[in-house]
Amino acid sequence: MDIRKLEKQTLEQIEKTSDENGLRIFEKQWLGPKGKIRELFRELKNFEPEERKKIGGEINLLKKELTAALEKKRTGAEKEKQGFVLEKEWLDATRPVKPAEIGHIHLLTSALKDIALIFKNLGFDSVSGPDIETEWNNFDALNIPAYHPARETADTFWLNQMSNVKSQKLLLRTHTSPSQIRHLLSHKPPCRIVSPGKVYRFEAIDASHNIEFWQLEGLAVDKNINFANLLDILRTFLKEFFKEKNLKIRIRPSYYPFVEPGIDIDLSFDGKKWIEAAGAGMVHPNVLKNTKLNPEGWQGIAFGIGVDRLIMLKHKIPDIRLLHSADLRFLKQF
Ligand code: DAH
Repeated sequence: MDIRKLEKQTLEQIEKTSDENGLRIFEKQWLGPKGKIRELFRELKNFEPEERKKIGGEINLLKKELTAALEKKRTGAEKEKQGFVLEKEWLDATRPVKPAEIGHIHLLTSALKDIALIFKNLGFDSVSGPDIETEWNNFDALNIPAYHPARETADTFWLNQMSNVKSQKLLLRTHTSPSQIRHLLSHKPPCRIVSPGKVYRFEAIDASHNIEFWQLEGLAVDKNINFANLLDILRTFLKEFFKEKNLKIRIRPSYYPFVEPGIDIDLSFDGKKWIEAAGAGMVHPNVLKNTKLNPEGWQGIAFGIGVDRLIMLKHKIPDIRLLHSADLRFLKQF
């Protein structure tokens, strides 16, 4: 009876068995009540007493070894299941960490920050207004009465309101100009503010039009602030923002009900292709009256800048929709 050989074979068999089911079969075969160990003990009677003692000891040892090997195999499998595979794998704590891919601030957000900083240096505070506005703030107070054709070109998304709640009609603001009204009604002039935010229009979407885009409203009200100040502020801002020697600024008369006189500002790099980037003017006396200010004592300058357009121009972006998409191929470039 070669117990040594048996020992080698059985231990190898345990090592090779990879699942619990196999281990259980092995256990029954070898250590069970009708198992091979028992059988070996039974065979002992055929040996001389001296040898019986020696072989008996060996069989006992084998039994212990098999029990221990089974247990070790089982706890090892359990640890492996839980991810502790330290005997097979090892951890190099000195290895440099693979840098995680970290995102960055969206182009729009960083441009808005830059813009706010330029205006801060010109003495303008940054304030914000809500995306949902009252009809009065968005239109009437800005000298755009219900019959005015300017309402039609700025038609927007009206909110369904509960019939049992009596309130003004609400809409998604069509421009940031209502923040002028909000500010003047809650702060005593003199004041200088910019108010960036999203605006909404019922538009046919194409490369240069979207139903949502960003504007930046500007307003300064003082005793003797004037048109020259307005032009100077806008020119200073545009030069700072673009930092381009070639930038050309064109100013032409325009009409907005809430300013008088009103202008539009076009920009170009080549002097041929112009893009409208902002509207501006002197605050209309009716707007001052609507915000309880006396137009005889106060005057104001106002401007509304198309933020998306400025960014598109600065970074040569051909389609406004890219700015509002979540396309990483686009976003990662900035
Ligand atoms: N609110 C105008 C628009 O959305 C832009 C604008 C024009 C704002 C002239 C102004 C302004 O403050 O003075 O088209």
